[in-house]
Amino acid sequence: KKIIIFASGNGSNAQAIINHFENNDQVQVTHILSNKPNAFVLKRATQAGIEGISFNKFAFAKAGSIHSILKQINPDLIVLAGFLWKIPEFMVEEFPNRIVNIHPALLPKYGGKGMYGNHVHGAVLSNKEKESGITIHYVNEHYDEGGIIHQATCPVLMNDTIESLANRIHQLEHEHFPVTIEKLLS
Ligand code: GRF
Repeated sequence: KKIIIFASGNGSNAQAIINHFENNDQVQVTHILSNKPNAFVLKRATQAGIEGISFNKFAFAKAGSIHSILKQINPDLIVLAGFLWKIPEFMVEEFPNRIVNIHPALLPKYGGKGMYGNHVHGAVLSNKEKESGITIHYVNEHYDEGGIIHQATCPVLMNDTIESLANRIHQLEHEHFPVTIEKLLS
């Protein structure tokens, strides 16, 4: 089975997924795609011997090259791991229930446009939440609104900073995302 990963930045989740399936002969991460040509995640792809592809918004549009590449690869699962662009409707329709995303909070709270990374953790802290967590969900044409597949929680501590909370959430993501993907594919 084929997984492709879309990511815009560092790609620590992408790395956790790559590592998890490294010695799996049923499931393979075949491509890593990024809208940022200099994203560290593309270096991770090179290091892992996985094809990395960067693209601009024209290539990402319906008549663009990414659409044809996706059709050609025909992945079993498209994983968004810190990918900051909205997935266009034609892609959602083309791959129904085959696109999943990870969000660093407990949806439906703290989701939507502009709610990513430190913005999410900042909002959680200023609302004095006692708990935060991660949500793995299907992608539909609205930000962070597709069906929830899996959630996991962690405490928010009294002296947490954005950084300490972000670290705790990242660890939780690395623990849960690869195994959830494996379950989805089995
Ligand atoms: C993760 O926290 C994920 O929940 C969010 O973006 C972040 C990506 O981190 N969507 P990384 O690039 O995988 O390190």
